[in-house]
Amino acid sequence: MAVRVGNVTLPSPVLTASGTAGHSDELAAYVDLSSIGAVVVKSMASFEWKGNPAPRLHAVDGGMINAVGLQGNGVEKWIRDELPQLRARGARVVASIWGFRESDYESAVRSLATVADQLTAVEVNLSCPNLDHARTMFAHDAAQSARVVAAVRAALAGSVSTSESAVTNQSVPTHSPANALPIWAKLSPNTDRLIDIAGVVASAGADALVLVNTVLGMQIDTETRRPVLGNGGGGLSGSAIHAVAVRSVFDVRAAHPQIPIIGVGGVARAEHAVELMLAGANAVQVGTATFADPRATAKIQHGLQRWMRRHGVASWGEIIGAAH
Ligand SMILES: Cc1cc2nc3c(=O)[nH]c(=O)nc-3n(C[C@H](O)[C@H](O)[C@H](O)COP(=O)(O)O)c2cc1C
Repeated sequence: MAVRVGNVTLPSPVLTASGTAGHSDELAAYVDLSSIGAVVVKSMASFEWKGNPAPRLHAVDGGMINAVGLQGNGVEKWIRDELPQLRARGARVVASIWGFRESDYESAVRSLATVADQLTAVEVNLSCPNLDHARTMFAHDAAQSARVVAAVRAALAGSVSTSESAVTNQSVPTHSPANALPIWAKLSPNTDRLIDIAGVVASAGADALVLVNTVLGMQIDTETRRPVLGNGGGGLSGSAIHAVAVRSVFDVRAAHPQIPIIGVGGVARAEHAVELMLAGANAVQVGTATFADPRATAKIQHGLQRWMRRHGVASWGEIIGAAH
């Protein structure tokens, strides 16, 4: 079942999707978190953020719509209060970060650098409004996206940890494992420039791409005549966007065959995951399906094992990109 995403080997191609599995071990009662590929936690900023007004989630035909607004206590508190529980479950942990400006991403990743040896990768969520750039989303602009990824790369490369020198008994700076921490850039499908943006963020230092975040959407209540979400619009996810994810992965793989991809969008059963891998994904993430069934990641993983046996597939290398 093992797959490689760049330099990272995962025991399974099934990961959780950011924002759908909590910040820590919330799913542990339902899924053996050490058995899945990795747990990607909800995106975190360097600061505490309250998120959007309720209601924040709503079911729609074929999925759900959400405008949670990236609520969280910030990276420092996560490192102190939530990472240890998740690690105690034996999970491989991917920390997702967000920000309003480049410097927010830098601050968040500098904190993560202090626990780099406990992380599998850092996922950079670029679907955030850029306050220094007329509130456009980073992920919709190649140059802005590349700048964030380059800043995260530089912050990791420049990070040092201190250790006690055996000779002098004094703290000395040493190169930290942060330098080697893989960066996964998570992109938005709400743009016609996905292929360019994918190439540019990889050149800026992303080791892999996560495709895709939610699709912009809205639902209006015909009784109240108002949008159902407190924020008005939101992000559409689930089965409704699966074909968008497959197309995004397929097109990016065709244009940039050397860049590892993690596919995400509407994976609710094993065949959906296989479809994304055939399109070119090295691994997949499961999001909205977990809201319908908290055991979804484990069930999809078992389904993939059965699918492999049924089709005489010995390794995922036979499947990844095979639709091209
Ligand atoms: C309630 C909810 C919260 C989400 N929060 C985040 C987040 O914090 N960071 C992020 O990168 N993506 C977030 N996403 C997007 C998912 O990670 C995923 O990209 C998207 O939902 C598509 O996958 P799915 O159809 O399997 O849900 C969120 C999605 C949902 C439904």
